[in-house]
Amino acid sequence: MPRPSVTEAETPYPEHLRDMVEEYLEGLTFSSSDHLELQEMAGTEGLVDAMRHSLLAGGKRIRPVLALATAESLGQRAEDLLPAAAAIELVHTYSLIHDDLPAMDDDDLRRGRPTCHVLFGEDTAILAGDALFAEAVQLVAEHQPGSAETRVGILREISRATGVAGMVGGQYLDLKDAGQESPDALRRVHALKTGRLMSCAVHCALVLARPEPAVDTALRRFARELGLLFQIVDDILDVEGSEEDLGKAVGADARQGKITYVSVHGIAEARRLAGEAHGRALACLSALPGPTGDLVDITDLTYLRQH
Ligand code: IPE
Ligand code: IPE
Ligand code: MG
Ligand code: MG
Ligand code: MG
Repeated sequence: MPRPSVTEAETPYPEHLRDMVEEYLEGLTFSSSDHLELQEMAGTEGLVDAMRHSLLAGGKRIRPVLALATAESLGQRAEDLLPAAAAIELVHTYSLIHDDLPAMDDDDLRRGRPTCHVLFGEDTAILAGDALFAEAVQLVAEHQPGSAETRVGILREISRATGVAGMVGGQYLDLKDAGQESPDALRRVHALKTGRLMSCAVHCALVLARPEPAVDTALRRFARELGLLFQIVDDILDVEGSEEDLGKAVGADARQGKITYVSVHGIAEARRLAGEAHGRALACLSALPGPTGDLVDITDLTYLRQH
């Protein structure tokens, strides 16, 4: 693969945006300011513990960081997209909790910690995922700055990216092995299960900033390529990565006979296809008028990451 000469350790990442996201997520207690509601919620602390266990386990936060970096590249303040960016991370965390369940990938390790169901039980893990999705919607409805139109637009992006034409539909296709039908079918599974939520981060910034059509189109293309790249690299890392770096089990895809870019194309071709997607994503960015430095760094890290 024509890998760039830099390594992951040398690739800069917009740490200031990551810190902003981390601090915001830390502040989410999933409580209520309504006195009566607060009384009625008594006893749900264990559910919130399960949600926060998975949420605050130190993921890369690439989706919210991507949302904020896109907003900044369009002349917006990162703060003005923070609730939506955090909401996407809540949905992503819910997808991971459910993805790890015994009925799905049956994994015990996630983000360097025991998975939600291992610590809290399958029943609570299912509910923790459900609650994270609803809390994500609530976060945008209540705290996202901007007009009602902006909030509805963002909710539309998040719900579409999560539903049948998004992550959940993709997870269904994944568990039905739809990707074995053809390389194009596999690309579609990846586009739905991973690409849509990644693209959603960019789309939410587009809803906020409403750029001119040429910029909108270039960023949508960029988002699609980045989402595909992300899952191809995830498939490669399941073969070549280390459990210590990834904070999750390696070799799990092969053990479970998963259809992945590596199982379908072989490792060398998967690397080449990742290189192509990386190149296409960068080409989309080069067509943009605004500052794209952080987006370039996110794209490089997505390609070079070891975790
Ligand atoms: C893992 O996502 C699941 C996929 C969609 C491939 P990430 O690699 O972004 O996981 P975290 O958020 O950093 O833990
Ligand atoms: C997961 O894909 C995609 C979603 C969670 C939607 P994987 O099953 O490959 O993710 P990992 O490898 O467990 O993180
Ligand atoms: Mg899976
Ligand atoms: Mg999995
Ligand atoms: Mg994987």
